[in-house]
Amino acid sequence: MTAPRRIVPTAVSEPTGRPSRVGRTGRHGVRTLRNVRIFGYPSPVTDTIREATEADLPAITAIYGEAVGTSTASFETEPPTLDEMIRRFSVLRNGGFPYLVQIRDGTVAGYAYAGPYHQRAAYRSTVEDSIYVARAFRGCGVGRALLAALIAESERIDCRTMVAVIAESGSAASVRLHARLGFTPVGILAAVGYKHGRWLDVTLMQRALGPARSAPPTRV
Ligand SMILES: CC(C)(COP(=O)(O)OP(=O)(O)OC[C@H]1O[C@@H](n2cnc3c(N)ncnc32)[C@H](O)[C@@H]1OP(=O)(O)O)[C@@H](O)C(=O)NCCC(=O)NCCS
Repeated sequence: MTAPRRIVPTAVSEPTGRPSRVGRTGRHGVRTLRNVRIFGYPSPVTDTIREATEADLPAITAIYGEAVGTSTASFETEPPTLDEMIRRFSVLRNGGFPYLVQIRDGTVAGYAYAGPYHQRAAYRSTVEDSIYVARAFRGCGVGRALLAALIAESERIDCRTMVAVIAESGSAASVRLHARLGFTPVGILAAVGYKHGRWLDVTLMQRALGPARSAPPTRV
């Protein structure tokens, strides 16, 4: 079995097509080519972003299940089982879509994947992102590093647009995160969900990828 590919999110295109470095020094620390070193902690920690494997699914299921059960970040109302998460993972990986984890000191700190925005064929160059960071690791740059890597990986498979469908409870952090990575707001769908006893709005954001609409799609 080959080792999962490590992702090096050194550069992603700007929505304008201009290259930008995502490995630069930021408020949260210094991102090196091979990992993310975060300072300001008792000791520096090292993160790795790589392709997810089935062995990561128990941790991913726990992260997602916590979010489903305690928030409105997901419109699912029952945390999916491990078997169901493995099934979803297989569908995405068999379709060639990126599914990434960020490992901090041996622990899955968060995960992100890009999947079809819609199933109809004409949407084939558009992906929707999903990103979840374990509660203990939120607010320290994990989401940002993961999303940058996911954008780069989605460009590698020549997707042209990424859509974020952001449910209400995650919105402050999620809207900020996506805005920092070049997403622009598209609109709000009002009261399209009902969970935990209240109606939920959804914020839509989108980001151009690679050459975007300047050339026809290559994905079949
Ligand atoms: C949304 C989420 C993925 C962000 O990941 P994170 O690792 O916590 O975010 P980061 O530390 O990388 O921060 C990214 C940006 O968001 C900002 N941010 C983080 N948490 C925030 C909060 N609670 N409120 C406002 N802004 C916040 C950060 O300051 C940073 O912006 P900056 O670079 O301008 O300072 C994470 O909070 C999460 O998993 N939430 C629950 C699930 C969810 O909502 N997923 C999104 C589904 S679309």
